[in-house]
Amino acid sequence: METCVYLVGFMGVGKSTVAKELSGRLHLPVVDTDEAIVKGEGRSIPEIFEREGEESFRRKETEMLLELSESGAKIISCGGGIAMRKENRDIMARHGVTILLEASPETILKRVKKDDNRPLLEGKKNVSDIAAMMEARRPAYEAAANLHVSVDGRTPAEIAEEIAGYVPPVL
Ligand code: S3P
Repeated sequence: METCVYLVGFMGVGKSTVAKELSGRLHLPVVDTDEAIVKGEGRSIPEIFEREGEESFRRKETEMLLELSESGAKIISCGGGIAMRKENRDIMARHGVTILLEASPETILKRVKKDDNRPLLEGKKNVSDIAAMMEARRPAYEAAANLHVSVDGRTPAEIAEEIAGYVPPVL
């Protein structure tokens, strides 16, 4: 079995930043699913959503997740929607350990406010819409996660330290 560490959680929670911090501690390379898809397609995420639709993006995401999971141990920073699909949760469960990063809607709003690279947040950059989306997604995130880590008020280094303390015994 290839062993991967998956970081999942809502958009803007800091998965990519924490993944980089974790990389040095676990001596594993990092791949970000969004970056890998953008590179492979030669198009931005908003362009893929606009031209091909969300379903097409979700299929590419599942293909990428499987390919990355089957190609050696690594840290995989997952797009925020990956844990929504049972098929993806099964891939993650088969190939490693999944860490859920959690933040308050207020923290998320601060981080995504000026960003226009996330089509699903267009017109929803306010606390109540973000809180509603987080609630709707919670069961799937919880079904995917082996460990929950809160990021509110903590540095990426502190978060990575907590995850590194948990991961070695289960790998
Ligand atoms: C999405 C999250 C995004 C990106 C796409 C859809 C989602 O990734 O995959 O915009 O459905 O939560 P980040 O979580 O890295 O922002």
